[in-house]
Amino acid sequence: MSGDTLKSDLKKVLEEATQSIKDIDNPSDLEKLRVKFLGKKSLLNTFMKSLSDLDNEEKAQAGKKLNDTKKKINDLLGEKKISLSKSKDKEDDGFDFSMPGKASSVGSLHPITKTMNCAIQIFESLKFECVEGPEIEDEFHNFTALNIPETHPARAMHDTFYLENNNLLRTHTSSVQVRVMDQENPPIRIIAPGKVYRKDSDITHTPMFHQIEGLYIDKEVSFSNLKSIINIFLKSFFEEDDLKIRFRPSYFPFTEPSAEVDIEYIDNKGNKNWLEILGCGMVHPNVLDMANIDSTIYSGYAFGLGVERLAMLKLGITDLRLFYENDLRFLKQFQRI
Ligand code: FA5
Ligand code: MG
Repeated sequence: MSGDTLKSDLKKVLEEATQSIKDIDNPSDLEKLRVKFLGKKSLLNTFMKSLSDLDNEEKAQAGKKLNDTKKKINDLLGEKKISLSKSKDKEDDGFDFSMPGKASSVGSLHPITKTMNCAIQIFESLKFECVEGPEIEDEFHNFTALNIPETHPARAMHDTFYLENNNLLRTHTSSVQVRVMDQENPPIRIIAPGKVYRKDSDITHTPMFHQIEGLYIDKEVSFSNLKSIINIFLKSFFEEDDLKIRFRPSYFPFTEPSAEVDIEYIDNKGNKNWLEILGCGMVHPNVLDMANIDSTIYSGYAFGLGVERLAMLKLGITDLRLFYENDLRFLKQFQRI
C-alpha cells in the first residue's frame, strides 16, 4: 500500500464515520460505531499494522495522518455522546426551567379544633386529666348507667343514630363518665372531649358536634364548687371578667340538681340574647351507686360543654353549620386565631 492510497482511504473512512455519527440517535448505536471505526478490527487498525510496509519518510507522514483521523473520529463520537445525553435529560422530565414556580399553601387547624385545644388547656391548668372514650357506644353506657331507663322519655329527646346490635353513635360525652367511674376510684377529676352525634340541624345544631365532659368526684364536692369552676373556665376562655353568665334550672336524669348555662351575646339584629352552652349538675346518687361508688361518702359534679357554641360566641358566627361546609373562604378567616 502506498502513502497516497492510504491518504485517500483515510479520507473515505473519515467521511463515512462523520456521516454515520451524525445519523445516530441513541447511545448504544453510537457505541457500535466506536467499535466499528476505532476498535481492534477497524480499518484504521488494519492501516496501522500495514504502516510497516512503507519506507521511513512515508511511514512518518502516514502515521501522523492516521492519528489525526483517529482523533477526529474520537472527538466526533465524544460530542455526539454529550448531545445525546442532553436531549435525553430533556425528554425524561420534560422540565421547563422558564415556567413560573408553584407557591405551596400552608394549612391550618380547623377553628373547632383550635377551640377544643384552648378549652382543654384551661381545664388541664385547673388539674383535670384529659381522657377519651369510644364514639360507637352501647345503650348501657350512653343511657342506662346514666339513670335513663329503657322507657324514659329522655332517650327520645336525644334523637339518636342507632347502629346494628344495639350499638349507637354516642349522643353525649356523658358515656365516658360511666367508663371512668367503672375503672377508677375517687377522687376522680377528668375531662373527656370528643365528637357526639344527634339527628339535629339548624343554626345552633349540627348532627355531629363536640362536647367536653367534666367530672369531679370526691368527698364534700358541692354545687358551689361546680359554679365556681364553670365561672373560672368561661371567664378565662372568653378573656372577659364581666362576662354575663346565667345558671338556669334544668333537668338531666343523671344529675340532681341540674342546670343549663347560658351566655349573653348580641345577635345579628343587635339585640341582647342568651345562648345555651352547657348542661351540668351534681352527679345523681343512683349513678354513683351503679358505678359502685358509695354515695353516702362521695359526691360529685359533672358538666357537658358544647364546643361549637363556644366557638360561635368567641368568633361571632351566627350559623353553626358554617363550620362544617368545608368552604375554605370561611375557614381561612380563622387561620390566626
Ligand atoms: C347533655 O348532652 C348532657 N350530657 C350534659 C350534661 C353533662 C349534663 C353532665 C349534666 C352533667 P345537652 O343535650 O343540653 O346536655 O347538650 C349539652 C350542650 O351541647 C348544649 O348546651 C349545647 O351547647 C351543645 N349541643 C347540644 N346539641 C347540639 C347540637 N346538635 N349541635 C351543637 N351543639 C349542641
Ligand atoms: Mg341542653
